[in-house]
Amino acid sequence: MDIRTVPNPIVRAGGRWLRRVNDRHPWSHNDHFHGWILRRLPTRRRRALDVGCGAGLLLSRLRGRFDEALGVEADAAMAGVATERFAGDPVVSVRHARFEKVDGTFDTITMVAVLHHLPLEASLRHAAELLEPGGRLLVVGLARAETLTDLAWDLPSSLLNPLVGMVRHPRPVTAPVDDGGPPLPMRDPAETFADISRAVRRVPPGARLRRRLFFRYTLEWTRPV
Ligand SMILES: C[S@@+](CC[C@H](N)C(=O)[O-])C[C@H]1O[C@@H](n2cnc3c(N)ncnc32)[C@H](O)[C@@H]1O
Repeated sequence: MDIRTVPNPIVRAGGRWLRRVNDRHPWSHNDHFHGWILRRLPTRRRRALDVGCGAGLLLSRLRGRFDEALGVEADAAMAGVATERFAGDPVVSVRHARFEKVDGTFDTITMVAVLHHLPLEASLRHAAELLEPGGRLLVVGLARAETLTDLAWDLPSSLLNPLVGMVRHPRPVTAPVDDGGPPLPMRDPAETFADISRAVRRVPPGARLRRRLFFRYTLEWTRPV
């Protein structure tokens, strides 16, 4: 179930209005959570891995906080953009690869709006294996809204979203924004928050999973020393 498809004409008209306002005052729900990630970095900061790094904005924020930061990106065009961004950078490197093929060890692994592109349990297990003892997995994820509780979480986000947009991007966009870059690969999440909670109880045990505003959840896990 999605709040935009509720079969009530008033709710749907409200949804269309909200969508129009959001299009005119866009802001990134994903980048909004970068602060949450940066506040939770572990003490030891040798190597960071950003999975599905897209154009590399989070990598640019991890840079300066780690000795090395690696971005892996499965989409060739996006990997090209990120590679170009950090060309010649001694700290940040970008690999056009699938997360499943990554090896080595890391002090932090980040995933922003990526886990729903991956096989859930296998990817959590792989991330846990790649972490050094004391290393931290930090996930900002999307879940499919299905239950009334899910909808109840989406409702304040839907109402707050245009307000935040107007503050962050006060000048309305009149034409579609084209930054000249390739489109970010997107996918609707298949798993619900309940599915993710069940998976996280098994792997990695002890992870802290929380619903958040703006259609996101966060997951935090530190590999025991
Ligand atoms: C919605 S985008 C998010 C990008 C970026 N993390 C951000 O916050 O802007 C999801 C990204 O994950 C990448 N992706 C999907 N499957 C992947 C995989 N198996 N390994 C690495 N990256 C993957 C996609 O190509 C896409 O760039």
